[in-house]
Amino acid sequence: MIVIKSPVDLENLLLKSRVDNKKIGFVATMGALHGGHISLIERSKIENDTTVCSIFINPKQFNNSNDLENYPKPIENDLKLLTEVGTDIIFLPNYEDIYPETYIEPEINLYGLDNVLEGLIRPGHFKGVALVVKRLFDCVKPDIAYFGQKDYQQTLVIKEIVKQFNIPTEVAVCNILRDENGLAMSSRNIRLNNEQREHASFIYNMLLQLKEDVKVLTIKDALIKAENVLLKEEGVQIDYLTIVNPQTLLPEESLTTENSSLALVVVNYFGVRLLDNIYI
Ligand code: PAF
Repeated sequence: MIVIKSPVDLENLLLKSRVDNKKIGFVATMGALHGGHISLIERSKIENDTTVCSIFINPKQFNNSNDLENYPKPIENDLKLLTEVGTDIIFLPNYEDIYPETYIEPEINLYGLDNVLEGLIRPGHFKGVALVVKRLFDCVKPDIAYFGQKDYQQTLVIKEIVKQFNIPTEVAVCNILRDENGLAMSSRNIRLNNEQREHASFIYNMLLQLKEDVKVLTIKDALIKAENVLLKEEGVQIDYLTIVNPQTLLPEESLTTENSSLALVVVNYFGVRLLDNIYI
């Protein structure tokens, strides 16, 4: 495993793989790694010759300075996990490496993808994600980049920048990894205490029930029922719970075939934002 900080060193190192026509897989992270990230790396290792994982906490995607300050930074543990899973290259740039003084922000149009759901609640967030992912793709030039479905809206944003800038990278969206109780794995989960983390299974259980309920109720009634289930829980505030078209993110009025719509939920649970989604 090689740890590299400078984009130029990274480019030189990857040049050999490129010349030899070797496939490069990439997993972009902000650290605080969990099983979900590790599963992305495992998949990349199966499908590529070289796997690069970046750890960079991108200030441009935080619209709340408290959230940035409180973001977990267990770098020693992250490096240990990445070594254990057999990551080939860890890209660990600092702020100036990603945004040097000479850096000029590219014009990015997210065609409204950034103005709904997460984008409404976190203005500027997806613009920041788009900027950093574009920059990371420029550094790594991966053949395939792996992202988790938990951040579903983010995967649409990344596909949009790949299209907009003709980036020759395939975006692979990977299944959500869950704790045994069904809670979607997330770097933020470590802010829950053990009891809260165990109890947070109610979110996935609600989604599973919602999937059943839409077979017999209207979408509106099924969502009201699901919201009531969530609101019975102590410490819960709902940021949103909706059923959307997975391409446009517009609310669905009725369902067509099974698994062609997406239920998305974000709850604030004892101050920790938990995202989840499921095809309906
Ligand atoms: O999903 C994340 O961890 C981040 O949004 C990403 C894609 C690494 C960009 O900073």
